[in-house]
Amino acid sequence: HEATPPAAALLEWYDRHARRLPWRIGPRERAAGVVPDPYRVWLSEVMLQQTTVTAVKPYYEGFLERWPSVADLAAAPAEEVMKAWAGLGYYSRARNLKACAETVVSAHGGRFPADAAGLRALPGIGDYTAAAIAAIAYDEPAAVVDGNVERVLARIFRVETPLPAAKKEIRALQAKLTPTARAGDYAQAMMDLGATICTPKKPACVLCPWQEWCAASKAGVAESYPRKAGK
Ligand code: ADE
Repeated sequence: HEATPPAAALLEWYDRHARRLPWRIGPRERAAGVVPDPYRVWLSEVMLQQTTVTAVKPYYEGFLERWPSVADLAAAPAEEVMKAWAGLGYYSRARNLKACAETVVSAHGGRFPADAAGLRALPGIGDYTAAAIAAIAYDEPAAVVDGNVERVLARIFRVETPLPAAKKEIRALQAKLTPTARAGDYAQAMMDLGATICTPKKPACVLCPWQEWCAASKAGVAESYPRKAGK
């Protein structure tokens, strides 16, 4: 087999198995031309930075109902936003959320920048979040790398460098694998693969669309990757 796993095989799997999530435009809707609202993508990605999907869902719904647009959130009193965030933790995210909404309104006419570099300059948006919004909201082929992606690619390529030192190498691999078409679906497919198949313990390799390209799985050592420093 060729050394690189084809995006097409992953996208085909995603078409059949994509998780339905409240902030997600599913593959069928996307193919039908439904375009994501960058505000919703941003709100969900900031909430998901250090919090699980299950914990985020009710907060995401609550925020959207109360503040349906970035202008609504920018105009909200800061203490109300902080109160609505209570329970999600990492409260600097909530302060940055409010600051980011204000900046988008005051400096960008209420529209989020449409590329990763412009997004990266906003409060609370780091490399991961900028790439995720660029890919998911704008279909820009940005290299999205989170913990799921690190695990998947460390296994496929049997990356022997331990994390976190391997981050640069994995980012380069992801940049090479990311397709120019369907970049948003591809990013979300990687997240779903990591969350449901390529799990930290007991990965379900028999169900994996990339199994035949996975060096670690083929050697029967998937669980031993990613390598961790100090182990
Ligand atoms: N974790 C972070 N971003 C996510 C997304 N867009 N979908 C599912 N899980 C995520």
